[in-house]
Amino acid sequence: MKKNILCIGAGYVGGPTMAMIALKCPDRRITVVDINAARIAAWNSSELPIYEPGLDEVVAQCRGRNLFFSTDVEKGIVESDIIFVSVNTPTKTFGRGAGCAADLQYWEQTARQIRRCAKSDKIVVEKSTLPVRTATAMTRILSAERTEVHFEVLSNPEFLAEGTAIEDLRHPDRVLVGGGDTPEGRAAVAELVDIYAAWVPRERILTTNVWSSELSKLTANAFLAQRVSSINAISELCEATGADVDEVSRAIGMDSRIGPKFIKAGVGFGGSCFKKDILNLVYLCETYGLTQAAAYWRGVVAFNDHQQERFVSRILRAMFNTVAGKRVALFGFAFKADTGDTRESPAIAIARMLCEERASVVVTDPKALPAVARDLADCADRVTVEPDPYKAAEGADCIAVTTDWKVFRDLDYDRIYASMRKPAFLFDGRNLLDREALFKTGFNVYSVGRSPLTHLD
Ligand code: UDX
Ligand code: UDX
Repeated sequence: MKKNILCIGAGYVGGPTMAMIALKCPDRRITVVDINAARIAAWNSSELPIYEPGLDEVVAQCRGRNLFFSTDVEKGIVESDIIFVSVNTPTKTFGRGAGCAADLQYWEQTARQIRRCAKSDKIVVEKSTLPVRTATAMTRILSAERTEVHFEVLSNPEFLAEGTAIEDLRHPDRVLVGGGDTPEGRAAVAELVDIYAAWVPRERILTTNVWSSELSKLTANAFLAQRVSSINAISELCEATGADVDEVSRAIGMDSRIGPKFIKAGVGFGGSCFKKDILNLVYLCETYGLTQAAAYWRGVVAFNDHQQERFVSRILRAMFNTVAGKRVALFGFAFKADTGDTRESPAIAIARMLCEERASVVVTDPKALPAVARDLADCADRVTVEPDPYKAAEGADCIAVTTDWKVFRDLDYDRIYASMRKPAFLFDGRNLLDREALFKTGFNVYSVGRSPLTHLD
């Protein structure tokens, strides 16, 4: 009998990951539980709570067969042998380490609930990104007061990116499993490796000690974010000197030691992970008294904020130092293409800064519009949403592209230009569009890290 799997937390990570395991391991029963009843209801409906290309098909194949979504966390714990914990671990907003450390309250509550309900031995797998050495705390919480049930804690961070989650899960670069160096630890690691080995080549499944696994997750995200900030810093220099950042990216990306990925300049990185994980790393460094290392990583986040401010400053400068009363069409609200997720989306900060300048902001996005009212509640009187990009641009003084949706590339910009107020400006915060063509149409075009193309002088 194959062991039953439970996942606590039906979010962006837990949902798709379990769906893939269910697809690839049809002989295992997998239950995903969450305290959020609306979310579970959505997982059980035809409108899944998150948008991911390919996810609907995977869920349709497995749901009701060996994949189940439920709010009954306690029953789930009792009936399972392997428990993935994938609850959110946001940045702390209060007390020590506020704005930096991870808020582990949900995670700890979950650990206590597992301890309370478990009637048999469990393997507990950390899926949430956690500070290094959290597994020790997890083991301590689980083992307190009870000796008759054995809990073995593993770390198995998830590296999927949103928008490509299903592809990333189907063909992961690597799967990382960290476990204790004891007979029980090694046996638990083997169990987890066995699950992934159903579809991932063995040489891509790495086993390490728990701390290395935890730290590798933070490090991977910090390195990726650092590349984005590095190229964005170069984009600022390009604007000052007349170099073209996309040409620089291509030139350096062909160096096999650097590689072509994650060197696309833009309005900065967003998403639930990069900022949170770097700040976590900063907090860890500070905890160990490593002030230089902390400052180094803090700089990556600081530059990301600067890049967004810079984007708005450029808009203001170009538009005669004022956007007050002007209509700005914001093309994109998601933090990247192919997701409806807006957590830490650069578009939020940019929209807010434009509202502070008293612009009237019209947001268009194929998937993320439902989030606008919540994310921009503080400046709701200046913000409207419009699903149709043509209508959003109608009568606008400028377009600001903040998300790299392909649909924005395929629009008829002659038609859009004709409907806008003149002079019409386009600020391409993702270097997504054909700027020469836009310039010929009549737009004054500002791309990131490139000289502007304008008709104004
Ligand atoms: C989460 C973490 O934020 C991230 O650090 C980690 O790497 C992976 O898991 P994500 O899946 O994107 O990422 O989070 P989210 O979409 O917020 O999902 C977490 C879910 O856990 C929510 O649906 C929430 O309702 C649920 N939850 C939270 C519980 O079921 N129980 C709790 O006690 C707290
Ligand atoms: C990231 C990691 O890639 C993933 O491994 C981890 O599990 C979670 O965090 P995600 O946040 O979903 O995934 O998206 P990602 O594709 O990494 O993009 C993050 C942000 O960086 C986006 O806002 C994106 O637009 C931006 N980005 C990315 C750039 O601005 N330039 C680039 O070259 C690449």
